[in-house]
Amino acid sequence: MTIFYFTGTGNSLFTARRIADATGARLVSIPQVIRTKETYTDDCIGFVYPQYANGLPKMVRAFIEGNTFKADYFFAVDLWSFIHINALGEIAGLVPLDYGVYLKTPNNFIYLFGAPKDPAKPLAKTKKRLEIIIKDIIGQKRNRVKSRKAPGNATKYFGKSGFNVTSACTQCGVCAKVCPAENIRLDSAERFGTECELCYGCINACPPHAIFSKKAELNRRQYKNPLITVNEIIEANKK
Ligand SMILES: Cc1cc2nc3c(=O)[nH]c(=O)nc-3n(C[C@H](O)[C@H](O)[C@H](O)COP(=O)(O)O)c2cc1C
Ligand code: SF4
Ligand code: SF4
Repeated sequence: MTIFYFTGTGNSLFTARRIADATGARLVSIPQVIRTKETYTDDCIGFVYPQYANGLPKMVRAFIEGNTFKADYFFAVDLWSFIHINALGEIAGLVPLDYGVYLKTPNNFIYLFGAPKDPAKPLAKTKKRLEIIIKDIIGQKRNRVKSRKAPGNATKYFGKSGFNVTSACTQCGVCAKVCPAENIRLDSAERFGTECELCYGCINACPPHAIFSKKAELNRRQYKNPLITVNEIIEANKK
């Protein structure tokens, strides 16, 4: 089994890793293979990713469109935190999915509201649900996911200078290291480039909470999956 995953704040890494622990799957971080053009063949291939505005992260879509996948069984685990409306439909339009499932996680999109005070509580529910999903995957459960066109990625709302940095910045470099898109340059006047995935990794991982898209975010609790370290996100997202 091979699992391709994409993560901004650790929920997808946590999920993909737990499935791999239970199944012996090979884990592949999509940012690390985004430049490859390959045919990936395995008995089972899965995709684990956060949904953004009911759609796929654009890098996940580009990776799937740019490569070929051959497997007897395909699955997708689509992470969400507050609402989903046939979000799996987009990946079902790209991959012949045998099984598609939603997994509710603690929220990382602090543009809307802050992270939970004690993420361990909602995460306990996530873990419980994940164990059922793992059983389904091992048993090669099948369901039907109706495909649909891409909704238009959330990144369309955020342009070149969508993010700002306050004077609290210490130039520590964590934001550039967690970024899965190599979109942050500390040595440039234009700190953020045009390749943002909107993963919210930089905003949530910045130690002095200096990055924001809108000012209200600065008063909101940051989020990172408590069972994943910032270094593990950096490792997953480095090229
Ligand atoms: C830009 C953005 C848009 C999001 N849109 C949705 C959404 O439409 N519905 C939802 O339920 N969760 C949404 N989320 C929440 C994430 O999908 C969720 O918190 C996920 O577990 C984060 O995974 P990660 O920690 O692997 O990055 C959004 C998050 C971000 C950053
Ligand atoms: S993570 Fe925060 S403090 Fe560190 S360089 Fe980036 S903006 Fe500055
Ligand atoms: S700039 Fe920030 S939000 Fe955009 S892809 Fe990089 S880490 Fe994610």
